[in-house]
Amino acid sequence: MPFHVLGIESSCDETSAAVVRLDEEKLALLGEVTARQEEVHIRWGGVVPELASRKHLESLLPVVKSTLNKAGLGYRDLHAVAVTNRPGLIGSLMIGVNGARSLCYGLGIPLITINHLEAHLAAVLLDGAQVDFPCLGLIISGGHTSLYRIHGGWRGFEPLGHTRDDAAGEAFDKGARLLGLPYPGGPEVAKLAAQGNPAAIDFPRALPGRDQSDFSFSGLKTAISTYLQQNQEPHLPDVCASFQEAIVDALVRKTLQAVERERFRDLVVAGGVAANQRLREKLKQALPSYCRLHIPSPQFCTDNGAMIAALGAVRFRQNEFIEPASLFNVEVSPQTEAKLARGKTK
Ligand code: KG4
Ligand code: ZN
Repeated sequence: MPFHVLGIESSCDETSAAVVRLDEEKLALLGEVTARQEEVHIRWGGVVPELASRKHLESLLPVVKSTLNKAGLGYRDLHAVAVTNRPGLIGSLMIGVNGARSLCYGLGIPLITINHLEAHLAAVLLDGAQVDFPCLGLIISGGHTSLYRIHGGWRGFEPLGHTRDDAAGEAFDKGARLLGLPYPGGPEVAKLAAQGNPAAIDFPRALPGRDQSDFSFSGLKTAISTYLQQNQEPHLPDVCASFQEAIVDALVRKTLQAVERERFRDLVVAGGVAANQRLREKLKQALPSYCRLHIPSPQFCTDNGAMIAALGAVRFRQNEFIEPASLFNVEVSPQTEAKLARGKTK
């Protein structure tokens, strides 16, 4: 029996909803609507959590309603709602989770809670990717840079390595800021880099030990600051191309080491930075022939509701959800009850 899952994403600065239909193995995206908040945050040079929550509150229901309109469906055609519940900005997550919870309660349908990072990787399903497990997953977003061993059915994400300091997207954003470019920095740097020479400046590549899958990007900020102090009139396209090259190079080299160590036959790369063209090209060139590369199309790399709906549909089929009748059941132990009575919550 085919079923429809509504996905809701509100973990950072995008309110996004989408409906997918899963029919046997065939996943179809029926509609997606995203309300962006860039104009709210741009003057602050980054996301302001309180402003983000307020904007999500305004946008959530209109976004859900117009997603259903786009999909040609009504509320009663939904079989389940999937929502990002971690990781992310707590206020923003709460808007999405409580909105989804109320919809499920009102409609009498199950709720599926989704890990945002896992959904980024599962976004390759939207392009019909066939992945064999275990596979290697590389998450490169504004807040995370991590490698995972992913087990069958998109269940079990075993961490292999993380960034020791800044995430790859954060490095793009901070570097862009130093160069006077607007937020988010990644796409701006990529645009200018297209006209520059990637070999113009030799920015450092931090490559923690061969047998480790960790990353490190914080040294790049210092390198750019120093370069700007020493070069009063920098050629921005060359700086951007060289800066982008340093990030891409480190990502490709560490990922390649992990592929070769375990001879992974499938590599999934996802998250906002996976939209970067230079990275996509260099990964394709670098991978050994036994490893297939899966990267979502660029619109599914940055935060979107479709990836939440896609992983939601997989989880729903695996019978992993919360029944509507249990949505507001909260178990309170006698010890907690006693503490609450004394006015203590810890
Ligand atoms: O996954 P995402 O949309 O949000 C998070 O969950 O963090 O990733 C956002 C990050 C930002 O740091 C942005 O600068 C970066 O992805 N980004 C890019 C590109 N598009 C977005 N970085 C490099 N090249 C791009 N084309
Ligand atoms: Zn994300």
